[in-house]
Amino acid sequence: MALSEINRLQYLDAMGVTVWQSKFMTDSTIAPIEFDAHHVVLTEVIIPDSWEKCRADVSGCKLCTLCTTRTQTVFGEGNENADWLFIGEAPGQQEDEQGRPFIGDAGQLLTEMLRAMNLTRNEIFIANILKCRPPQNRDPHVDEIKQCRNYLQRQIALIQPKIIIAVGRIAAQTLLETPEKIGKLRGTVHQVENIPLIAIYHPSYLLRSLTEKRKAWHDLQFALQTFKQLH
Ligand code: URA
Repeated sequence: MALSEINRLQYLDAMGVTVWQSKFMTDSTIAPIEFDAHHVVLTEVIIPDSWEKCRADVSGCKLCTLCTTRTQTVFGEGNENADWLFIGEAPGQQEDEQGRPFIGDAGQLLTEMLRAMNLTRNEIFIANILKCRPPQNRDPHVDEIKQCRNYLQRQIALIQPKIIIAVGRIAAQTLLETPEKIGKLRGTVHQVENIPLIAIYHPSYLLRSLTEKRKAWHDLQFALQTFKQLH
């Protein structure tokens, strides 16, 4: 980085302006960040983000109305340097109450699915598209996804995973920006900002549709094979 750029960053830092940019972001997804003092909008790379800052921003988030109905935010958890990033849809009731992702019935099945892949929850990172529970577990609204997107982008930038697993239809459609059905999205290696992404059925769906379990098993094997070929 050029000295002038470093000076500029130090200057901004001294003004108390913490700015970040995911290396996975495109211009259209960079959140405008405003100076308190001068109301200048910055859309450039400034200083790196941190887990601490990201966690604090999520826990205090009031960007959409879900902040009025949540018990607490669910940031995500696991290995901050994980090779595998699993991304689900949104917290359910238990997750909302305890502030942890995938801890209900679907979470237990996800843990079993991980076990089948020889992975533990401590080795991977699990996050959601939304950090707050939608009331009655309804599908996330477009504006909620939009407001929450930067948090996930920041998490991806901090983790720098080798592979992303989109858990379920909403996560897959959101990350791949497509209305395509999950049945069509599974079984293919997609790319999100140069990171391979594989879509799998959501464990909640598998709990309701046992006949799809065989396909789910194939998806896990496919994810493992894809990961092995990355090395
Ligand atoms: N379903 C999800 O998609 N995420 C959770 O955290 C829990 C259930």
